Amino acid sequence: MEESSDNSESKRPQFGTRHLSDPQNVFQHNAWDNVVWGDEQMKEAEAKLKLNSSSFMTEEAALKYEKEASQFWDTFYSTHENKFFKDRHWLFTELPELCNEQPTENVSETEVNTTGFPCQSAGFRIMEVGCGTGSTVFPLLEANTLKKSFVYCCDFSPKAVELVKSNPEYDPTKCHAFVCDLSEDNITFPFPENSLDIILVIFVLSAISPEKFSSTIKQLSRQLKPGGRIFFRDYGRYDMAELRFKPGKCISEHFFVRGDGTRVYFFSQDELRKLFEESGLVEEQNVIDRRLLVNRGKQLTMYRVWIQCKYRKPT
Ligand SMILES: C[S@@+](CC[C@H](N)C(=O)[O-])C[C@H]1O[C@@H](n2cnc3c(N)ncnc32)[C@H](O)[C@@H]1O
Repeated sequence: MEESSDNSESKRPQFGTRHLSDPQNVFQHNAWDNVVWGDEQMKEAEAKLKLNSSSFMTEEAALKYEKEASQFWDTFYSTHENKFFKDRHWLFTELPELCNEQPTENVSETEVNTTGFPCQSAGFRIMEVGCGTGSTVFPLLEANTLKKSFVYCCDFSPKAVELVKSNPEYDPTKCHAFVCDLSEDNITFPFPENSLDIILVIFVLSAISPEKFSSTIKQLSRQLKPGGRIFFRDYGRYDMAELRFKPGKCISEHFFVRGDGTRVYFFSQDELRKLFEESGLVEEQNVIDRRLLVNRGKQLTMYRVWIQCKYRKPT
């Protein structure tokens, strides 16, 4: 997995701290923020994309990857276990709401059907979807600022959930991990609708078929309290990982399958805006993070593109 195989995404403290003003200095640092792409670079990226997306795989092949999606991820975690664990402490900078634990405005518990669910009494409820082995969950649990919070986390890979639960840091009084396929309709979550303050959707929507984006986000939005937020971070269009795919790996526009059978979609800011707004959410942030990573030893440059969004459910 591209995002996991380099650690740059998790090492980064926050956006926009290092700018490359003189291209001659490119090998002076390991990473540059907010890199501006010139016309030539855009043209080159479009040409690469045209080549690797010129034909889509057969429907039959695409269906296999859809039907067996959770098995491919399960095999991934059985093979790699925690090898791709990433430290997501930067989340606290990007999402200070996580530390504030201010119960979401204008919501009284009487608005929620609170008939006995795991940690119904928590003042602040967070859920991470597609949690993998807990790269986000464990920094959250470790942050002892989270005194009043309870963290739900889920993944459709039973192996991933097992790895989360067997982690010595897993504390069932503060966390509840469960297996769940987000792309299914009418999921029975272990809490009632309208009960979450924050939902974290980090590098997971890209693994779901684009036809299911809308129903997935709508379903998540129903779980938020009015005033609650979705925090999203995922791959952006023309990311190095998208341009590197070879022909034959394209399922549909901007949707590819990796060698291990897991799939990845590359988003644009506009389609995310449409997706979240059509689910009744209000935009607070929708930014593109273009980073240039440098391997100084090998004198290589890698252009990464990530998108980060925050959307709020109106009160
Ligand atoms: C790229 S990994 C990211 C893991 C974690 N969010 C992180 O950032 O480290 C994508 C994760 O999404 C999970 N996933 C993919 N499709 C899913 C679905 N339909 N329902 C639930 N989880 C899913 C995979 O099992 C995998 O753990």
